[in-house]
Amino acid sequence: MPPCKLALKLQVRPTRPGGIFPVSPVGLKQSKNRSESGLLAPVVSAESGDSRVWKCLYRFLTDRGAQAHHEKDKLRMNDKTNEDAVLHLGDQKISLPVYVGTEGEKAIDISSLRKESGFVTLDPGYVNTGSTLSSVCFIDGEEGILRYRGYPIEQLALNSNFVETSYLLIHGDLPNPEQYETFRTNLRFHSMIHEDMRHFYDGFPSSAHPMAILSAMVMGLSTFYTDIEDPENDDNMDLTICRLLSKVRTLAAFSFKKSIGQPFIYPDNSLSYCGNFMHMMFRVPAEPYHVDPEVERALNLLLILHADHEQNCSTSTVRMVGSSLTNLYACISAGISALWGSRHGGANQAVLEQLSMIHENGQDVEAFMEQVKDKESPTRLMGFGHRVYKNYDPRAKIIKEACDRLLDHLGVEDPLLDVARRLEEIALNDNYFIDRNLYPNVDFYSGIMYRAIGIPTNMFTVMFALGRLPGWIAHWLEQRNNPKDRIQRPRQIYTGEQIREYPQ
Ligand SMILES: CC(C)(COP(=O)(O)OP(=O)(O)OC[C@H]1O[C@@H](n2cnc3c(N)ncnc32)[C@H](O)[C@@H]1OP(=O)(O)O)[C@@H](O)C(=O)NCCC(=O)NCCS
Repeated sequence: MPPCKLALKLQVRPTRPGGIFPVSPVGLKQSKNRSESGLLAPVVSAESGDSRVWKCLYRFLTDRGAQAHHEKDKLRMNDKTNEDAVLHLGDQKISLPVYVGTEGEKAIDISSLRKESGFVTLDPGYVNTGSTLSSVCFIDGEEGILRYRGYPIEQLALNSNFVETSYLLIHGDLPNPEQYETFRTNLRFHSMIHEDMRHFYDGFPSSAHPMAILSAMVMGLSTFYTDIEDPENDDNMDLTICRLLSKVRTLAAFSFKKSIGQPFIYPDNSLSYCGNFMHMMFRVPAEPYHVDPEVERALNLLLILHADHEQNCSTSTVRMVGSSLTNLYACISAGISALWGSRHGGANQAVLEQLSMIHENGQDVEAFMEQVKDKESPTRLMGFGHRVYKNYDPRAKIIKEACDRLLDHLGVEDPLLDVARRLEEIALNDNYFIDRNLYPNVDFYSGIMYRAIGIPTNMFTVMFALGRLPGWIAHWLEQRNNPKDRIQRPRQIYTGEQIREYPQ
């Protein structure tokens, strides 16, 4: 495609005053206190358990020009900033509103661009494109920051468990003791799958990848639970969410049992979420099995660290599919498929395979690193680099420490850990990696932990899916509860043949 010759100039200048919302519905209160609200713009909040009230308020406010962000039981109002970006397209000047997120991220709203100018934007890989407003997760890739609903990942990793973190992501706040108990009880109660679903496993070859089985089985859930979700009914929605969180764990463990030819082990609801998963994975009918609390703790940690990561490939897939208003099971099944690839969740499997290959071939680590740096070679150092983190991945730091603790506890001496440490040491001191800001990501050490726990390599990405599930659900819900949500439908720049005649 020939490059466009038209000069584009973009400048940001204040043209629009920040606004107070012209609202006065009963029950609304306004706050301009940023430290209280965490928002730059005035915040409107109200309290009601009925999502219909929120939708009404949302429409009322947005119809009057306010920008709002709607969650299940919260309505956050973000006004446009008092700046506009002005785009010079030849002789044309186009004013584009600027938004600032609660952590100061700036965005130019181009939603009217095509209408006003005939132009669309081109951004392969969506490197510069914000697809949505979202309050689930905050990442600062330059500073190595990750927060779920405002809570730093380091604090959640230290103090929370996977069930509580799932509640936080899905509902927006940490649960009080009563909410936690109800959530936990629901997760326990819905652990079994319909017996007919168990027979689905007979149809898969034992060589099938567990990710393929998981994706198919999650889609299969939609055929059993046809009462799926009614957006106006919060109880129904909570039920669907708990079913999904609980049953995916069972489906994942059954996929593993299928792949090794062992009988399925039914859930034991007296165990914790992670304990029950370990029981279904590792128990055999002939032997007793005791959940090791240290391993259970490590599993909780791994799942927490994977629980959300804003608009990554699989989460964006869930949102993209969800925008067509298909059901939650179908969206999660699509997310699992997206996660499978080696550029995404499949990387933890790829890391272990790469480490094993180096170890088993007795390959020289330095020589391998030369191969990684060689532009002619397709080899990449798996578990290194990240689209967003250009400093370090905060999850990798936590995992590295946890990995040492776990291996110590289990008395495991894994030669692959030595290979990983050596690769990391070389990479962190090599200009190729330094210049490109390539650091270990979450997957570099997670595989070694899973291996120590007894989880085989082809199950690593399934573990990632289990961890990411609450994040996917939270994003799906956020999108679903936004009355202004539209079907996602990007544009393209056509580069094919121009019209030509069909040969007669
Ligand atoms: C994660 C990843 C897909 C991010 O990709 P991206 O943001 O599109 O970055 P790019 O592929 O444009 O890479 C930028 C540069 O770094 C190099 N690079 C990136 N990751 C690399 C790696 N793991 N090993 C060696 N070189 C790497 C690229 O070759 C490119 O070099 P160049 O500028 O000389 O062409 C990429 O870093 C990768 O493939 N990592 C390995 C897989 C992985 O661990 N994925 C899990 C992510 S959580």
